[in-house]
Amino acid sequence: MRIVVLVIIILFEFLIGTSEAQLKIGFYNQVCPNAESVVTDIVRDAAKSDHRVPAFLLRLHFHDCFVEGCDGSILIDNGTTSEKGAFGHQGVQGYEITENAKTKLETVCPGVVSCADIVAMAARDAVAFSQGPIYQVETGRKDGLVSNMDLADRMPDVRDSIEVLIQKFIEKGLNDKDLVILSAAHTIGSTACFFMEDRLYNFASSGGPDPSINPRWMPEPSSACPKNGDVNARLPIDHGSEDTFDIQVLENIRNGFAVLQSDAKLMDDPTTRAIVDSYFGVLAPLTGPSFEEDFVTSIVRMGRIGVKTGSSGNIRRVCKSFN
Ligand code: HEM
Ligand SMILES: *[C@@H]1O[C@H](CO)[C@@H](O)[C@H](O)[C@H]1NC(C)=O
Repeated sequence: MRIVVLVIIILFEFLIGTSEAQLKIGFYNQVCPNAESVVTDIVRDAAKSDHRVPAFLLRLHFHDCFVEGCDGSILIDNGTTSEKGAFGHQGVQGYEITENAKTKLETVCPGVVSCADIVAMAARDAVAFSQGPIYQVETGRKDGLVSNMDLADRMPDVRDSIEVLIQKFIEKGLNDKDLVILSAAHTIGSTACFFMEDRLYNFASSGGPDPSINPRWMPEPSSACPKNGDVNARLPIDHGSEDTFDIQVLENIRNGFAVLQSDAKLMDDPTTRAIVDSYFGVLAPLTGPSFEEDFVTSIVRMGRIGVKTGSSGNIRRVCKSFN
């Protein structure tokens, strides 16, 4: 009897062990020693010629990980049903940068570095080049074998309630602290007025603005996004600090300067509000928490979502096409 139980336990642990992703820092050290520097160089060059690039790449990693796991599925061009075309992925950019890195890597070490890992490495570089925390990225992801628009139906949406946002993160194995901290990725980049219009002029069909917007700040977004103006005009998400990765974004959210409704909602729920507030306690500079350290913890956790290893994925030759 005891032996049977033991065998079952061992078998169970073995199964768990093999179904868990085998990610590690420096996965390519032996098999493609220049993998990381090739990606870093390409991101650096791209960021030099266009300051928006780090924001594109950080967002790309999030959108990749939340659909089918961090598996490069968002990169695929497979006609009109491709995941890439999903409503929830609107405005996602940076595809040519990860593809350029892939092309270079295929000349250096063909068939070795996955597109999913390129996306994760590029996001790490994007944070570093925006003066954010420098962290080591885990690698060893395989590329996914499916791309379907419908799979992106549960992408977090800017108009989701805080309960729904929390739930969508839980579904990916992330908690409410991850939600707060990863939303702070909005410390860089911009949004189309499309995502802010109704908050400015017709919040919840009220005919007026979202009451959570600080009236002192109102003139700025309303001049960037005038009523009935161009919905494709853009507004920095982090007022005053759009190219620098810093805690300013959380301060703006606390002060009613949040651009995105999902960020403003973080102040609606007592739990998420307490997490935001924890970074501004009188003792926070001395005893923590540290925004930078917590961001690293959360983005590493995000990078583990639904990772494919073994035969559940492959290494693409071209990021936008299945082999
Ligand atoms: C909590 C759920 C989230 C929602 C509802 C959300 C929504 C949005 C929206 C609507 C935009 C503007 C897109 C555009 O107009 O181009 C945006 C931009 C951005 N998001 Fe999020 N986001 C979320 C979480 C995240 C996470 C977890 C990350 C990364 C870790 C992230 C990174 C970014 C970045 C960097 C931008 C700026 C992109 C640019 O400048 O082109 N977001 N987000
Ligand atoms: C590619 O698109 C075709 C046509 O829409 C679809 O039938 C097929 O399943 C897609 N391939 C993959 C691997 O997702």
